[in-house]
Amino acid sequence: MKNIAVLTSGGDSPGMNACIRAVVRYGISQGLNVYGVKRGYSGLIENDMELMTTRSVGNIIQTGGTILKTARCNEFKTEEGLSKALKNLREREIEGLVVIGGDGSFRGAEKLIQNGILCACVPGTIDNNLFYTDYTLGFDTATNTVVNMINNVRDTSMSHDRVSIIETMGAGCGDLALNAGLASGADVIIVPEVNFSVEEICKKLINARNHHKEFSIIVLSEHIIEASELARQITEHCGLECRWLILGHVQRGGSPTAFDRNLGTNFGARAVEELLKNNCGVVGYRDGKYIYVTIEEALNGTRKFNEDEYRLAQKLSF
Ligand code: ADP
Ligand code: F6P
Repeated sequence: MKNIAVLTSGGDSPGMNACIRAVVRYGISQGLNVYGVKRGYSGLIENDMELMTTRSVGNIIQTGGTILKTARCNEFKTEEGLSKALKNLREREIEGLVVIGGDGSFRGAEKLIQNGILCACVPGTIDNNLFYTDYTLGFDTATNTVVNMINNVRDTSMSHDRVSIIETMGAGCGDLALNAGLASGADVIIVPEVNFSVEEICKKLINARNHHKEFSIIVLSEHIIEASELARQITEHCGLECRWLILGHVQRGGSPTAFDRNLGTNFGARAVEELLKNNCGVVGYRDGKYIYVTIEEALNGTRKFNEDEYRLAQKLSF
């Protein structure tokens, strides 16, 4: 193998740049030419890629976002889009590709593998929604961002004796809300994996007031109920004054934590190592070890929600 490429695809996540840096520098150290593809699968279709050097990944380990840019590219899902991408890869004699992205991006890589391109994927998403790995790249940074935001909200919530609802991202996975909620001492954590009722929440909030806790923090994972509607229902049901905040894309940016930088670095180097051994698959981190499994294995399972931590958070919040 002489030529490989790297791309970032789907929603960006902090640590992607550390991973790109590792892919490029590890690849060059092994005698490979490494191309950087722009805007995910769009760059493959449009032949928008350039040869990277050790210098083109200098001074990025500490930065959020992705220097390669990212995209959601519907054309790649079509036969025509796939053919264009394959033609461009073949013309440049690129045999291996590192794909940094979420489960959708892994599905894209599967199509390339079926057509003879070796792919090694890296789980890059703040959602932590992949079952085969304990951590995805960016989840730790996003958790810390949410915790810092909650710290600020907590101050004003306390001053005004209010209920504050903070909505996090998560795309159907409650890990971000749970992890940040536990670290913030939230009174209520609402996640897609567990049913909730406004009556039960109000009971809890009133009980807290009866124990001289004058303000409350609710962490709400996205796509369950509108934060504004939850605030309205709580006030209607028990009369408490509520404010709500949708954190949004602030969670996707920012300088990656040391944990995410090191995760991205190890993921990137491992992905190149596996390509050199002609192994297709996805890197992950499970039970304290870096692992490499097939895409099929990575996608055929449902992430187990950490019910113990959820119950612990509930027990400690009164
Ligand atoms: P993520 O990778 O973060 O889950 P998406 O689900 O948006 O994000 O997927 C990223 C990109 O991966 C899509 O825009 C598309 O280019 C590609 N992709 C997703 N699913 C498929 C599929 N079934 N076949 C081919 N490409 C896909
Ligand atoms: O998958 C990452 C994610 O940030 C989700 O948490 C969120 O639902 C979605 O992407 C937001 O996507 P967009 O960047 O298109 O607004």
